[in-house]
Amino acid sequence: SFSPSEIAMSISPIRGAYPNTRMRRLRAQDFSRRLVRENQLSVNDLILPLFVIEGRGETQQVASMPGVERLTVDLLAEKAKELVKLGIPAVALFPVVDPAHKSEDARAAYDKDGLAQRAVRAMKDAAPELGVITDVALDPFTSHGQDGLMDGNGYIVNDDTVEVLVQQALSHAEAGADVVAPSDMMDGRIGAIRNALEKDGHVNTMIMSYAAKYASAYYGPFRDAVGSAGNLKGGSKASYQMDPSNGDEALHECALDLAEGADMIMVKPGMPYLDVVTRVKTDLQVPTFAYQVSGEYAMHCAAFDNGWLAREAVILESLLSFKRAGADGVLTYFAEEAARLLQT
Ligand code: PBG
Repeated sequence: SFSPSEIAMSISPIRGAYPNTRMRRLRAQDFSRRLVRENQLSVNDLILPLFVIEGRGETQQVASMPGVERLTVDLLAEKAKELVKLGIPAVALFPVVDPAHKSEDARAAYDKDGLAQRAVRAMKDAAPELGVITDVALDPFTSHGQDGLMDGNGYIVNDDTVEVLVQQALSHAEAGADVVAPSDMMDGRIGAIRNALEKDGHVNTMIMSYAAKYASAYYGPFRDAVGSAGNLKGGSKASYQMDPSNGDEALHECALDLAEGADMIMVKPGMPYLDVVTRVKTDLQVPTFAYQVSGEYAMHCAAFDNGWLAREAVILESLLSFKRAGADGVLTYFAEEAARLLQT
């Protein structure tokens, strides 16, 4: 690639310079703008995160995420059918676990009849075409709200956590999950999960690794949504999630997860980390996803609801930015709305 000054110097004064070149010529009409458009957002790029709760026929609003509802399993199954009609390829499922089922050892995480496992079965029954991605991490199930098991010093231990994550991932695959998505950031979990899936005959269960997941302050509303905000002991996930200062480290993380058997990798959060998306995609050239997280959703909604930003145009522009950065797809709470906007 060339710098703008190198380009300027290389352009022939006869062919390239103004007025022979007028950048605005191609912008003057809609047809030529459409012809030279480099990136497009399509419904095929969208993954909708969904929150599932116990009960029947009930929805709950998430206060810090206006318009986002937690759904019971029966309503989730109905939603699955609607999403197929809209053309959305996949959903990412997050269970909201009753505090009574949370424990120090997170054993509810791999309960064959747990909420996530039941939700997967119901969704795959109702809409087999819809890809179901499950979250592999212990935070909904630990009494302290951390993504792994805690030792006596409050440290999140790696290898013992990986063993529980493997059980959790297997229980998701057995329930019919198409993709397991480890979001916990323990070392070695992708290899351990891949190995166990292969051994159990789940050779086509995909792994989407939250490979470059940062210790971000943008996750606040999500922790409200799953009810892990209040109980997050220690407050920080910095001993396992990445430091927001780092870019090279994201490439290292992604390369390791690919070597361990990840089929797809993810960068998270999204818009503040588009530089990381571009570096990962450029360097590794593998299916790369980005997560426009709860805090990004909440701040957009705050501006929309105040009349400070134009809702529909900004939603589509924000999602297009991920495509331009190199992402193959985006996990976004705007997925359903964006799919409808793209239809019209
Ligand atoms: C937890 C998990 C988090 C998100 C997805 N999985 C929160 C966290 O790491 O604390 C965040 C998603 C969002 O903010 O929208 N394993």
